Amino acid sequence: MKRGRCMIATSITEKMELEKNKGGYIAKRKVHMLVFTMGLILHSSSWEVALLVAIIYGTIKWWFSIKFNYWKLRGVPYVPPSFPCGNIGDLLLGHLSTNMIYQKIYDKLDGHQFGGLFHLTKPVFIIRDLELVKNVLVKDFVHFNNRFTDTETESGILSKTLFLSAGSKWKKLRLSISPTLTPSKIKAMFNIFTESAKDMMDFLQEKVRDSEELEVKSLAYDFTTDVMCSFAFGQRINCMKNPDSEFRLMGHRIMKELTGGSLVVKIIASFFTIVNRALNCKCQPIQFFEKVATETIEHREKNGWFRNDLLQFLMQLKQKGKIVSDDVLENSCPQIATEGYYGIDKKYEQLVIHCLELFLAGYDTMSMTIGFCLHELSVNPDIQQTLREEIDGVLKEFGGEITYEAVHKMEYLEKVLSETLRMYPAGGTLFRTCTNSYMIPGTKTLLEKGVQVVIPVYALHHDPKYYPEPEKFDPERFNEQNKASRPQSCYLPFGEGPKMCLGW
Ligand code: HEM
Repeated sequence: MKRGRCMIATSITEKMELEKNKGGYIAKRKVHMLVFTMGLILHSSSWEVALLVAIIYGTIKWWFSIKFNYWKLRGVPYVPPSFPCGNIGDLLLGHLSTNMIYQKIYDKLDGHQFGGLFHLTKPVFIIRDLELVKNVLVKDFVHFNNRFTDTETESGILSKTLFLSAGSKWKKLRLSISPTLTPSKIKAMFNIFTESAKDMMDFLQEKVRDSEELEVKSLAYDFTTDVMCSFAFGQRINCMKNPDSEFRLMGHRIMKELTGGSLVVKIIASFFTIVNRALNCKCQPIQFFEKVATETIEHREKNGWFRNDLLQFLMQLKQKGKIVSDDVLENSCPQIATEGYYGIDKKYEQLVIHCLELFLAGYDTMSMTIGFCLHELSVNPDIQQTLREEIDGVLKEFGGEITYEAVHKMEYLEKVLSETLRMYPAGGTLFRTCTNSYMIPGTKTLLEKGVQVVIPVYALHHDPKYYPEPEKFDPERFNEQNKASRPQSCYLPFGEGPKMCLGW
């Protein structure tokens, strides 16, 4: 046994000498320490191994207990974490969704304005008080102008999106893209939505004739893929008729590949920056959509081809440095109309990223909302009937045409969608990072720079204090009288403040 140990030690010394000369001394030393430890374990008796394991375990537990003291030391109420996952064990094990985890923590902190929790060992600050929600999102935005920390978002193609940008870079991007999504631009693009809606109606009529069962979730995804591909990439797909379309397959894959389907990967990634870098790499669907957008732009430029869609507005923005937007001027925001387009290079990289971002931003959120809305209508036939009557009545007024103005006249539809977004908010959690230390108003609590802040939208939307019988689907919660009787910040399906959803 001794001989074995001695041989390992000798070879380590020799190799260390060699590597020292090559300049790789430190990295190799770590590897050799590991080999040495392994050697020790292999050549030790069982009680020596047990002792070593106990020491390592004890050290890790001690390190975790120090980390888990973070909120206690600052006098912030917190939900006791468990070793080693903090408060997100159920999320990591797949027992609860992100929204449910935060709802559980929100409930446990009942009676407090805010509280603390841990993502593994990372301290996270959760807000319950609506006034504080408003301060963080709107009034004191300068202290919270980033969603995640810089190390979490510093690399990869997605770091250039509006969603993951911070500070002045985010501001310039937002000012540049905003004019492409104004009401007049949406109106100009409205025919994109009606085209896809007609495709869906034809498909549904066929299905009803054959009385086949229908998977509503995939119907909603197909419809959204059609709309978003047409809107962002200028491509007409009709996924329902062409289920093998590459757009459809890539659309399905992209969300999974980017996020791993949940916050879990993001949380682990924020813990290990290396994993995060790998996450941000260019996955196949991103490369596919990049190629489509680039080819479409080149084709349009070469042939002088024009279409009223997002891609065209972004191209206009790139070529002219601005969009001459009627309603931007109407809204008296001249700085938006004259702002140069930020960061577009000759290879259209930034332009393609915007198309990709807006496609992604609408893809999952819209399909989820449509899917849940159809579900609620099917289990609430009275509400379905009322909505049907409204739609039939308004369409009659507009000669059977679904127009921008007609849709805006459908007040009950708006209530139904609002209630769907209350019960099933696609963005059920808002994230901000404290970018400048912040003293919580009216308290002695100082929120340190770098702390992750969570606004548990799903929990607020399901709090019986604001929404009695929260599990009941009731569009009348959104009539004028009921809306006025509630505090504003308890309804946040599109976020709030300067970083609010751009597609709202
Ligand atoms: C039902 C549909 C949608 C829902 C529920 C939704 C929800 C949200 C939420 C909750 C946020 C975060 C806001 C915050 O942090 O305060 C967000 C951000 C964003 N959304 Fe949406 N969204 C929807 C559709 C869309 C569409 C169709 C687009 C674009 C075509 C879009 C573009 C964006 C962008 C660009 C951001 C980032 C804004 C920024 O950081 O400045 N969204 N959305």
